[in-house]
Amino acid sequence: MNLKDLYIQFFIEKGHKQIPSAPVVPENDPSVLFNTAGMQPLIPYLMGQPHPYGTRLCDYQKCVRTNDLDAVGDVTHHTFFEMLGNWSLGDYFKQDSIAWSFEFLTTRLHIPLDRLAVTVFAGNDTIPFDQESYEKWLSLGIPSSRIAKTVEDNFWIAGESGPCGPDTEIFYFRSEEEIPTTFDPEDDRWVEIWNNVFMQYYKDTDGTVSELPHKNVDTGMGVERTTAILEGVNDNYLSSIFKDMIDLIVRISGTPYEGEAKKSMRIIADHMRTAVFISADPAGIRPSNTDQGYILRRLIRRAIRHAKKLNMDMSTPWEEEIATLILQKYKSYYKELEENAAIVLEVLKKEKEQFNRTLEKGLKEFEKATKDTTIVDATTAFHLYDTYGFPIELTVELASERGITVDEEGFAQKFKEHQELSRTASAGKFKGGLAGDGEMETKYHTATHLLNAALKVVVGPDVHQRGSNITAERMRFDFSCDHKLSDEEKKRTEDLVNQWIQEGLDVTVKEMKKEDAIASGAECMFIEKYPDVVTVYEIGTVSRELCGGPHVHNTKELGTFRIKKEEASSAGVRRIKAVLE
Ligand code: SER
Repeated sequence: MNLKDLYIQFFIEKGHKQIPSAPVVPENDPSVLFNTAGMQPLIPYLMGQPHPYGTRLCDYQKCVRTNDLDAVGDVTHHTFFEMLGNWSLGDYFKQDSIAWSFEFLTTRLHIPLDRLAVTVFAGNDTIPFDQESYEKWLSLGIPSSRIAKTVEDNFWIAGESGPCGPDTEIFYFRSEEEIPTTFDPEDDRWVEIWNNVFMQYYKDTDGTVSELPHKNVDTGMGVERTTAILEGVNDNYLSSIFKDMIDLIVRISGTPYEGEAKKSMRIIADHMRTAVFISADPAGIRPSNTDQGYILRRLIRRAIRHAKKLNMDMSTPWEEEIATLILQKYKSYYKELEENAAIVLEVLKKEKEQFNRTLEKGLKEFEKATKDTTIVDATTAFHLYDTYGFPIELTVELASERGITVDEEGFAQKFKEHQELSRTASAGKFKGGLAGDGEMETKYHTATHLLNAALKVVVGPDVHQRGSNITAERMRFDFSCDHKLSDEEKKRTEDLVNQWIQEGLDVTVKEMKKEDAIASGAECMFIEKYPDVVTVYEIGTVSRELCGGPHVHNTKELGTFRIKKEEASSAGVRRIKAVLE
C-alpha cells in the first residue's frame, strides 16, 4: 500500500471521516490564486462553523504553489504536491494528535524511533512554552536530546492573518551517516516530514491575537517529500511518484537522465503534472493571460521550451503520452481526472500547437537580439511577448541561461502603455475606459468592481474583466465567459450587486507592496507587470482589486443597479451594459 492509502486508512481507524480534496482554486477564499495547504479549504470550520462530516476529518489535498515555479528543476522543488492532513475541530487535542502521529510513523511506516526527532514551541511574550507536547513526546520514548525547543519555526499561520497556533514538527534523519545523539533542527540531514499545528488562536489583520471558539488540530504531511524519504532517494524525481514520468521522457527524447538534461526532464515532469491537475480541475481554468490561466500558460510553455531543448519532436503527441500517464496514475484518487481527461489533452495540444508556431522564430529573434549585449532591452522583451507569446518569465529564464539580464521594469512600462492603448482603441475615443471622474462616473466605477465580483460568484471564478467603459449615463463591462448568461444568471448577478449596495459596504483603499497584493489575491490583469507599490481597493470583504480609483466611500451611495443588456463582445468575451437608477 502507498503512503496516501496507509494514511487515510489509519485515520479512519481513529474515527476520522475522509473528506474529498477541494478544487485547486479556492471556492470561497478570494485571497489566494490556488490552495497551497490542506487546511486552506477548512478555514471556515477551523473558525467555528460546524463541518457536515463531523469533528474528525482527514484527506489528501491537491496543492499548487507557484512562488517557487522558477526553482523547479532541482531535486526537491515542485509546483504541485499533495498534502496529507488530519483535523480535529474542537475534538481531540495535543495528547491524541501526538500519540497517533507517533503510532502511524512507527507502526505503519515502520520508521525506527532512532531516526525521529521533534521540535516544540519554546514560548514567547504572549504564548507559553508548549510543556504538554514536550512531555507527551517524552512519554512516547523520544529522548529529551531529540526534542528541540524553538520559537521561530514553531508557530504556524498561513500568511499574515487567520487561524494559527503553536506547532510541533516531526523530523526524519535522512542520511546514511551516524545519527547524532542531539537533534539540531538546522542540520539538514534532519528533514521535516509532518507538522502538527495546535490551532487555538486567530490573528487579525491588525495583529490582535484572540482565542478561537474551540481548540483544533491541523496537521500536514507532504506526499512527495515523505515518499522520497521512505524510499531512500535524494532526488524526488527518482521516487515512485516521478520515476515512470522520467522514464517516459527519457524514452520519448532518446536522452538519458544525466547531466544538463536532468533539469529539463524534471521541469517537464513537474509542470506537466501541475498543468494536468489545473486543467482537469472543476474550476475550469484554461490557458490565458491573467491569474490562474496565466500560471497554466506559463507552466505549459515552459515545459514545451524544455521539451524543445531535449530535441523532442513537436509534431508527435508527446504531451499526450505524458499527460495520459499522469491521468492513469492519479485517476483513482481524483475522479475529475477521469471525467475531464479529454479536456486536459485538448488544452495541452492546443497550447502546444499555438506556442510551437512562434517558439522557433521567437528563439531565433532572441538569439539575434542578444548576440552582442548583456541586457535584453524592453523593446525586445515586449516584442517576444506580443508577437511570439513568450511569457516575460521565459525571456528572463533564457537570458539567465546565458548570464545576461532583462530590462523587466522597461517591459512592465511598455506593457502598461500597450494596455492603455488598446483600451483607448476599443473605447473608440480618448477619454474612455476608466478615465472619467465625475460623481456618476465614480459611482459606476465602484459598481464595476461589484459586478466583477458578483459574476465570479454567480458564473464562476474564471470570469475575468476584459475591458470597461464608463460614461455619466451607463457602464459597459466586458468579461471572459464561454456562454450567454441565462436570465437566471443575470437576475442573480443583479440581485447580488444590489444586496451588496444595500449592505452599505465600506470602500477602502490601501497601498500595498506588489508581493503582498499578489498574496492577498487581489483581482487584476498581469500582476507581474505592475509597479512595486500598488493601490488596492476593497469593498467590504466581497471585492479586492488593484485599481487607481476613484471610488465612492460606501456602496449605499450607488442606488439601484440594473442590467440592461448582455451580449457577445468577441470570442469568449461577453459584454454587460448596466445603469444605476
Ligand atoms: N497548516 C499546516 C501546514 O501547512 C499543517 O497542515 O504545514
